[in-house]
Amino acid sequence: MITVVGNLKGGTGKSTITFNLSVKLSINSKSVQLFDLDPQATLSDVVDIRIEEEYEPVLKVCNNLDELDKQHDEILIDIGTAAIDSMYRAIQLADRIVVPVPPSQADIWSTQRFLQIINEKCEVKKPQILGLVNRADTHKGIRETGETEDALNMLPDIDLIQTRLYQRTSYRRSFSEGLAVFELEPKGKAAAEVNKLSSILYPNI
Ligand SMILES: Nc1ncnc2c1ncn2[C@@H]1O[C@H](COP(=O)(O)OP(=O)(O)O)[C@@H](O)[C@H]1O
Ligand SMILES: [Mg+2]
Repeated sequence: MITVVGNLKGGTGKSTITFNLSVKLSINSKSVQLFDLDPQATLSDVVDIRIEEEYEPVLKVCNNLDELDKQHDEILIDIGTAAIDSMYRAIQLADRIVVPVPPSQADIWSTQRFLQIINEKCEVKKPQILGLVNRADTHKGIRETGETEDALNMLPDIDLIQTRLYQRTSYRRSFSEGLAVFELEPKGKAAAEVNKLSSILYPNI
């Protein structure tokens, strides 16, 4: 299956989520083809660190969709708006698009624009579109996370994934070390969140 992780804004967690999912799949003996189509190359950077540190399983990153090989069990594509043609091509190839959305009005607006783009570009084959709240606030008193989920539920064409990733330093820390959150802190809350997300997106692993 071709899964694209995308949204228009930077910092929504696209590379973090793509990276964690790809490690999870690899650990579970799935062959994964991983694409970094964002010139910011964050995903490539984190994989480079992983290679330098000699962490297993080893990941490999492709940068050109011409290399796409459907023989793999799973294909994961991290996109960015700075390479707009590659982004369009990726969303046209996608079976599904995971859209990370931090809890804010600005992120809802940019998500709406992204959905418009998907609609325009995918007239032939409509991918499944899955919204995922990332960087949810851990303080219960703050209502923006619930409000963001309500707003996503009102948008047509997007299904909300029934789990959240919260704002946690372990996402940043593990990423900077070339590790998935469940490798750095297997018993941590972030690990539990990513495990849940993986089981929703990949029920067969
Ligand atoms: N849930 C989270 N909690 C804390 N930090 C996060 C979370 N998700 C992403 N980050 C951090 O935010 C920064 C931007 O994330 P990144 O995945 O590079 O976003 P994008 O690829 O959408 O630009 C990175 O430093 C990353 O580690
Ligand atoms: Mg990125």
